Amino acid sequence: MTDFAAVLLDRDGEGKTGARLTRLSDADLMAGDVTLAVRASAVNFKDGLAVTGRLPVVRRWPMVPGVDAAATVIASDDQRWRLGDEVILTGWGVGETHLGAWSEKMRVSGDWLARRPATLSPVEAMALGTAGVTVAEGLERLGRHGLTPADGPVVVTGAAGGVGSMAVMLLAREGWSVTAVTGRPEEAERLRRLGAAEVIGRELFAGPAKMLDRERWAAAFDMVGSTVLAHVVSMLKPGGVAIACGNAAGMDFPSSVAPFILRGVSLIGVDSVRVSATRREAIWRHLAETVDRDRLAAMTSVIPLTDAIDAARRIVDGGVAGRTVVAVGDVRA
Ligand SMILES: NC(=O)c1ccc[n+]([C@@H]2O[C@H](COP(=O)([O-])OP(=O)(O)OC[C@H]3O[C@@H](n4cnc5c(N)ncnc54)[C@H](OP(=O)(O)O)[C@@H]3O)[C@@H](O)[C@H]2O)c1
Repeated sequence: MTDFAAVLLDRDGEGKTGARLTRLSDADLMAGDVTLAVRASAVNFKDGLAVTGRLPVVRRWPMVPGVDAAATVIASDDQRWRLGDEVILTGWGVGETHLGAWSEKMRVSGDWLARRPATLSPVEAMALGTAGVTVAEGLERLGRHGLTPADGPVVVTGAAGGVGSMAVMLLAREGWSVTAVTGRPEEAERLRRLGAAEVIGRELFAGPAKMLDRERWAAAFDMVGSTVLAHVVSMLKPGGVAIACGNAAGMDFPSSVAPFILRGVSLIGVDSVRVSATRREAIWRHLAETVDRDRLAAMTSVIPLTDAIDAARRIVDGGVAGRTVVAVGDVRA
């Protein structure tokens, strides 16, 4: 395969981002020691930002979006990876500074690859994808902080989205009582089926946050940032921990120091892009062993590469529910 299908992002003279499905050739591949035939990718919020140009996540032009890949090794100068190996790649700047996975072919560094557990299909691996790595990292931080489900319930904001749905499912699986926050009441039943004990609207999180509010939760996974995260930290119990994952409502954080110095609350950030390779191997093994496949399937849609640009435009406006997997090549297990 010397030429192959890919989504390409470019900028016009005024800096406006354009996206199109096109064909690239091997000469377009970037430097790297492992060449991959991509089986599946996903639509992440970051891909939405890249396709719309809403935030400057792309730092190399032209760019192929797609921060997640499940792929087969088709050439390798790296002793660790052989022809036919099945791998997962999430983050590491792919889709931002390095051509991404909305492409039938990509060339990358062998350092970025994790082995795909044999029990996960390419679609399941991408349904988990960056969202699975992010939530697994957040769970690890809660554990490192000594928090367990016995400390009280956990709240998940942006719950109907990809990472939010993943957080609801994986936290419930670990025994947490989960309050899911969503602006889409029509998603409540699906969130309950994923394991949410309670589903509430966004009303509690509207407007400016008080310095301290009623103590409600022991922990939080926040996908939204801005005033929503400010409300969340003001409602944590003493010693509570908020895991800051996302910025769906904005990058700002209009809070006060009160929750931190008067309730000993901690705010911990997760950056899934730079999780170490060793830790990723452990995360993928754990996810493969513990994930509930039926629930994962229930929160996942699969679309062809031809629909990826449209899905990316919708995700930044909160118009996508759960995880969206992009079938790029052969997605059979
Ligand atoms: N830290 C990391 O490593 C990491 C990794 C992956 C993603 N992220 C970030 O996590 C966030 C979620 O990503 P995703 O892929 O899950 O995106 P997504 O599927 O679009 O989910 C975002 C959700 O946030 C809620 N939301 C959107 N706009 C809002 C607003 N103005 N006010 C309140 N809630 C709002 C919506 O949930 P409801 O419809 O349920 O209200 C939406 O579904 C993004 O900011 C992304 O960049 C971070």
